[in-house]
Amino acid sequence: MQAEFVTFEGLDGSGKSTHMRRATEWLQAAGVAPQVTREPGGTAIGRAIRDVFLDPRWGEVDGRVETLLIFASRRQLLAEVIEPALERGQHVLCDRFTDSTLVYQGAGRGVDREVILQVDKLATGGRRPDRTLLFDLPPELAQSRGQSLKRASRPRGIDRLDSENLEFYRRVREAYLELAREESDRFILIDSSGEIADTERQVRAALADLVPESP
Ligand SMILES: Nc1ncnc2c1ncn2[C@@H]1O[C@H](COP(=O)(O)OP(=O)(O)OP(=O)(O)O)[C@@H](O)[C@H]1O
Ligand SMILES: [Mg+2]
Repeated sequence: MQAEFVTFEGLDGSGKSTHMRRATEWLQAAGVAPQVTREPGGTAIGRAIRDVFLDPRWGEVDGRVETLLIFASRRQLLAEVIEPALERGQHVLCDRFTDSTLVYQGAGRGVDREVILQVDKLATGGRRPDRTLLFDLPPELAQSRGQSLKRASRPRGIDRLDSENLEFYRRVREAYLELAREESDRFILIDSSGEIADTERQVRAALADLVPESP
C-alpha cells in the first residue's frame, strides 16, 4: 500500500501521546516501522519554535502570531520529515497537525478561519493527512488526566496553554467534532473516555490495514 500520513488529534490530555507510543510499539512488533513525529517540534527549528510557543513569559499572545509560529514549524516538519518519509514508503504517525490550528487558534482563540487557511496554503499547500484519529472525551476528563500527568512530570508548574479555561476546551472539542463531521472520510472518532485498553482496541482497529498481514 501507499505510505500513509496519519495524525493523532484531540484535547490536551486526551491520550494522543500515550496511544502514539503504544501504536508505534504494536506496529513495530508487526514489522512496520513508522516515522513518528509531533507538533510543534519534530525538527531542530521546530523545537525552538515549540519552546517559544509554550513559554508563559509572553502573557497574552495574539492568535495570528500563534498561527504564524505554528505554521513555520509545520512547514519545516513537512519538508524535512513527513514528505521524505512518505517518499521512502514509510508510514508517518504525527501528534497534531493543521486540524489543531483550526480548532485551537480558530475556534478557541477566534482567529478567522480564512486567515488560517491562507497561511496553511502558503505553508503546506493545504496538505491534509490521509487519516486522522480524533481522541474524543469530555474536556473535564481530559483536563484532570492531563494535569495529573503534568504535576507528576513537571512539578514546577504549568505551561501557558494549560491555564486556559474549560470554556475554551469546550469550544475546541466542538470544533474538532465539527471537522470530523465535515471530513468523515478522513476522520476516525476514537472514544477516549474509558480505560486505556479500550481506547487501544479502537486505535488498533483504526490502523489495522497498515499491517501487511491483516485482511
Ligand atoms: N483511555 C485512555 N487513553 C489514554 N490515556 C488515558 C486513558 N485513560 C487514562 N489515561 C491517562 O491520561 C493521560 C493522557 O495523557 P497523554 O499525554 O497521552 O495525552 P495527550 O493527548 O498527549 O496530551 P497533550 O496534548 O497534553 O500532550 C495519561 O496519563 C494516561 O495514562
Ligand atoms: Mg501529548
